[in-house]
Amino acid sequence: MTTIAFDVYGTLIDTSGVLDALGNLVGEKASAFSDIWRNKQLEYSFRRGLMQNYQPFSVCTHQALNYTCALLGINLGLAQKKELMDLYRVLPAFPDVPKGLAQLQHDGFRLFAFSNGEPEALEALLTHAGIRDLFQGVISVDPIRSFKPNPAVYNYFLRQIDSSENAVWLVSSNPFDVIGAIAAGINAAWIRRSQSAVFDPWGIEPTLTVSDLNQLSQKKLQEVELLKGRDDPDPACQ
Ligand code: 2OP
Repeated sequence: MTTIAFDVYGTLIDTSGVLDALGNLVGEKASAFSDIWRNKQLEYSFRRGLMQNYQPFSVCTHQALNYTCALLGINLGLAQKKELMDLYRVLPAFPDVPKGLAQLQHDGFRLFAFSNGEPEALEALLTHAGIRDLFQGVISVDPIRSFKPNPAVYNYFLRQIDSSENAVWLVSSNPFDVIGAIAAGINAAWIRRSQSAVFDPWGIEPTLTVSDLNQLSQKKLQEVELLKGRDDPDPACQ
């Protein structure tokens, strides 16, 4: 049975769900604030992974919030920062997600959430978004004390679900996550919700690119696996 690992922040859950609250707090800077906050959060996770100086993802998020305020010259009080951090625990799912996940579950896939977030924050987030019950499990990188795209976290996922890489797909909107999974030998579908989203030009392409979760199906994934099998060189002929 094929397993699908779903990235959470930015793939299932819309991190720009803080925009309304930000609009009230910082006015017309809300959109820039949201983008800088998210990008800095990810940068801090990458840097902490490289430096082997692990702190939970919520710490990366909080420190990125402080950075964003300083960069934009916005003075938010402790209560306002807490309001934003609390909102991060109740962000909404993208509109295609509940139906797309339900269809994939119906198709017979084993569905897991797989994320940089801490276990407790992920449980709260997915429950609030009304999609927790569609997953067989929620796997956080936290016990590995590193972040995506460290190969160790993808291998940890495989060990946790007791599966080999060729029976697993990663689904993510984050190109660094797609490339990380493929580098670890796992097929990966890139969810490109916006035509303006750019994939990193590293010469490593997504196994499949779709515009939302409803474009994924058992038939589609099997077709891609078959085509890939045909393209892969046969070791016996080398
Ligand atoms: C996640 O792991 C990378 O933010 C992304 O959920």
